[in-house]
Amino acid sequence: MRGFITDPTGRAGLRLSVDLPEPTPKPNEALVEVRAYAVNNDETTLIARRPDGWRPGQDAAGVVVRAAADGSGPAPGARVACYLDQEGWAERVAVPTHCVAELDDAVSFEQAAALPIAGLTALRALRVGGAVLGRQVLVTGATGGVGQFAVQLAVAAGATVTALVSGPERIEDARALGAHRVVTSLDDATLGPFHLVLEGVGGDVLAAAVRHVVPGGYVAWYGNPGRRTTEISIADFYAQGWNAHIVGFISPHPEQTKGEDLAILAALVADGRLTTPRIGLVLDWERTPEVFEQMAARAFRGKAVLTLASKPTSVR
Ligand SMILES: NC(=O)c1ccc[n+]([C@@H]2O[C@H](COP(=O)([O-])OP(=O)(O)OC[C@H]3O[C@@H](n4cnc5c(N)ncnc54)[C@H](OP(=O)(O)O)[C@@H]3O)[C@@H](O)[C@H]2O)c1
Repeated sequence: MRGFITDPTGRAGLRLSVDLPEPTPKPNEALVEVRAYAVNNDETTLIARRPDGWRPGQDAAGVVVRAAADGSGPAPGARVACYLDQEGWAERVAVPTHCVAELDDAVSFEQAAALPIAGLTALRALRVGGAVLGRQVLVTGATGGVGQFAVQLAVAAGATVTALVSGPERIEDARALGAHRVVTSLDDATLGPFHLVLEGVGGDVLAAAVRHVVPGGYVAWYGNPGRRTTEISIADFYAQGWNAHIVGFISPHPEQTKGEDLAILAALVADGRLTTPRIGLVLDWERTPEVFEQMAARAFRGKAVLTLASKPTSVR
């Protein structure tokens, strides 16, 4: 079987191996033929950190070719999205059925592949603040992989959404996602105050966001893409966010409901309430290393998706 493995001598630290062993699913795992997968910002560091020969790939979509032996999960032929720990950048992968969601025909493999990590991060972070109907929510990094979902989901949940983007060239994109107000800086006393902040930028943005939070409000801090130094002081809370909460948000928890949450996202795509995932780049999967170069150059917005052609398989 073919699939990508880490190799420090390869382009972007990757090599397409042609002799990987076929997956051997555990009783609670379905075997899925991969049709598309997505790349996340974080995978750049994962690839550099993991040992040679490690098999990356967390976001995937495809077709079930063998159902789980314990009877759980979808039947053969079902189209699915999968939230994996690894090994998804390959022709086939074994997936625990609690990490799988069946797809409506209205959802393409490309759309489904873009959902798992970025979509679950946004969906679960939005829950940190409880009900947001009629409340003010700030989304930072609003046109990024996670941010684009966060804006749309917060709007769908009835919040009044302010989007912070990296510069004027991103303003129209954030408006298209449905944001009610779009800003390029938090240095404005009229912003908010926010019941909830979905914070994916870190550095000085986190402290600035805290200064705009309501007393007892919430900041779900999930990312810091430039690994910038983040300094925060009690004085930032004195501004107005007395007794506000900063939650160090880790999206893969809880494990058992990944598939359930993925199904919520897929249903929102199917009925049009999630009008993207915005896909900024689609390439044949053999060109996966190129994605990392384009990501480093910030050459596209939204998600990068790699596609695999359907092939007859002898697996039963
Ligand atoms: N905790 C978790 O479970 C979890 C899960 C998923 C991701 N993450 C982390 O979350 C972060 C974002 O991930 P992602 O996949 O969404 O990355 P991404 O697609 O690269 O998005 C990052 C966004 O932040 C924007 N940005 C960067 N600096 C900014 C600034 N100073 N002001 C405003 N916007 C700024 C970028 O703007 P441009 O569009 O101009 O580049 C981009 O839109 C990463 O650190 C990732 O590791 C954490």
